[in-house]
Amino acid sequence: MRDAYAKNLNAVHIDNLSVYYGQTPAITGVCLDVHDGEYLGIIGPNGGGKSTLLKAILGLVPISAGTVQIYGNNTNKKTALVGYVPQFVILNRKFPISLVDVVLTGRLKQGLSPFFTFTQKDKEKAFEILEKVGLLSLANRQIAELSGGEFQKMLIARALAVNPRLLLLDEPTASVDAVSREQIYSLLSELNKNKTIILVTHDLLAVSSQVHSLACLNGNLIYHGEPELTENIVNNLYGCPVDLIAHGVPHRVLRDHEEEKTVD
Ligand SMILES: Nc1ncnc2c1ncn2[C@@H]1O[C@H](COP(=O)(O)OP(=O)(O)OP(=O)(O)O)[C@@H](O)[C@H]1O
Ligand SMILES: [Mg+2]
Repeated sequence: MRDAYAKNLNAVHIDNLSVYYGQTPAITGVCLDVHDGEYLGIIGPNGGGKSTLLKAILGLVPISAGTVQIYGNNTNKKTALVGYVPQFVILNRKFPISLVDVVLTGRLKQGLSPFFTFTQKDKEKAFEILEKVGLLSLANRQIAELSGGEFQKMLIARALAVNPRLLLLDEPTASVDAVSREQIYSLLSELNKNKTIILVTHDLLAVSSQVHSLACLNGNLIYHGEPELTENIVNNLYGCPVDLIAHGVPHRVLRDHEEEKTVD
């Protein structure tokens, strides 16, 4: 891994990537370089392929064409470098497990043995992370008793448990309130001091003020060096007029679609 940094490799190098589900393309011809230390936002309409792109980076979906490299490594070698906060979590919230136990599951290695136990170091690391994300006082709380925002922060903590160099987050602020959203963004800014971050979000309100660079994905990917969202970028991406966002100013994100207007 040290070699990868010494060679100054990109965190992510994607060349001409296509992913098909059956005969249907989800993303095609995606080329993307994410520099070490970058904070990239990815926006795009529902079904645009954002989650698919993250899964392709993680090696969770088969790649139909092209290549993906993480710090110069191909799929099978890169997992330890990457932390992932999925959009949808297969985790029964009623399951009797505490917050710290969920974070510890992030430290599970592949090839678990029947009498496996976590080491003292695993536990220390889990508590250290909980402190970092501001959840230490809730460490032993059952997950059924967490708020939505606390639950999201727990998922980020779980992703941090492998001490990743690259963090992929798929809509981590969906369905959390404004206070939790701010806490999550400030946590991500802090984490970005020593981690590369790729953030998928529909939160156009916040994204351009948070990230260093922005990419728009709607089947194809368009990379914008600047996080500035212009009306043209957003309208072209979503295929319909979207009001531009002024920070701190109340706004309506979507204007009426032309076709929805009725004529008397
Ligand atoms: N496992 C799957 N099998 C078949 N089609 C899939 C599968 N997963 C996603 N798709 C399809 O691939 C396309 C891209 O889906 P994806 O989940 O990547 O979009 P997204 O940009 O993350 O959308 P959203 O904003 O709604 O989360 C969609 O048309 C979706 O229906
Ligand atoms: Mg998605």
